[in-house]
Amino acid sequence: DPAPPRRTRSMMPPTVRPRRLRTTPAMRRLVAETRVHPAELILPAFVREGISEPRAIGSMPGVLQHTLDSLRRAAADAAEAGVGGIMLFGVPAVRDAHGSAADDPEGILNLATRAVVSEAGDALVVQTDLCLDEFTDHGHCGVLDARGAVANDATLDRYRAMAVAQADAGSALLGLSGMMDGQVAAVREALDEAGHQDTAVLGYSAKYASAFYGPFREAVDSQLTGDRRSYQQDPANRREGLREAELDVAEGADIVMVKPAMSYLDVLADVAATSPVPVWAYQVSGEAAMIEAAAANGWIDRRRAIEESVVSIKRAGADAVLSYFAVELAGWIR
Ligand code: PBG
Repeated sequence: DPAPPRRTRSMMPPTVRPRRLRTTPAMRRLVAETRVHPAELILPAFVREGISEPRAIGSMPGVLQHTLDSLRRAAADAAEAGVGGIMLFGVPAVRDAHGSAADDPEGILNLATRAVVSEAGDALVVQTDLCLDEFTDHGHCGVLDARGAVANDATLDRYRAMAVAQADAGSALLGLSGMMDGQVAAVREALDEAGHQDTAVLGYSAKYASAFYGPFREAVDSQLTGDRRSYQQDPANRREGLREAELDVAEGADIVMVKPAMSYLDVLADVAATSPVPVWAYQVSGEAAMIEAAAANGWIDRRRAIEESVVSIKRAGADAVLSYFAVELAGWIR
């Protein structure tokens, strides 16, 4: 028989064993550094004008274009599941160059806001997307100048009008997703002048020009040709994300956001490290679609992938997460 190997120092059994804290589900649960609570989840929801039945969105399994009625029910279900809020997006029947339906009190998004506030406004923070892209016939987030470029300051006037209409409809938190310079200051001023001092502003501060918004374009029947690279951020830029968040805070944003979430966790961690206001992140349509598509093929475990993705976003520094999985995930947590 060969001689047993001589014990050297490096072969001593380890005394430091991180695995001790991973031995049982109870132990792992006790030492978890990050927890996801239903109150920190926000459900994005779509409402479409002129349909009598909710419609499926092919690239977003389980997500619907709602009627006013089905949206009410979805809001009630979200409240029942304990989620913290709902973010409403409108899909109007008629679009024009200035997105007139956006600040029409009878426009679909404003009607839906009234409906959801009356249904579930005590249990949920009812929030509205403040952007023109769903309402313009060219699909851009602002109005265009004579050369076809998105005109920053003329767009701010449209955002002011939208803000007042949304606050009048009862929205508690306006999600400014258009990436125009000065949009937070413009909206804050318009709200205050109209007596809406208590309506809060969420800056989609670090919003990147992302391929991961693909399914959303289907969800809102986007009319866009081309891209948004002249106003949304270049994915290559990290410092710029922090700068955008700092500007929004200086302009009076009550909450700032990083979007998309998963490919921008570094930006999220940067903003979370210094932000004086809450920091949210948006797990966008393409992030959800990747999980759904892989799970549908049997390539990943759907539930584990959803839980892991959202806990990762929280671990990176998000105080709350917008997710199409919000209601389902809240149900699992409970
Ligand atoms: C703009 C807006 C978009 C999203 C949220 N707000 C689209 C865009 O910027 O192109 C995308 C959300 C998602 O992909 O889930 N109104």
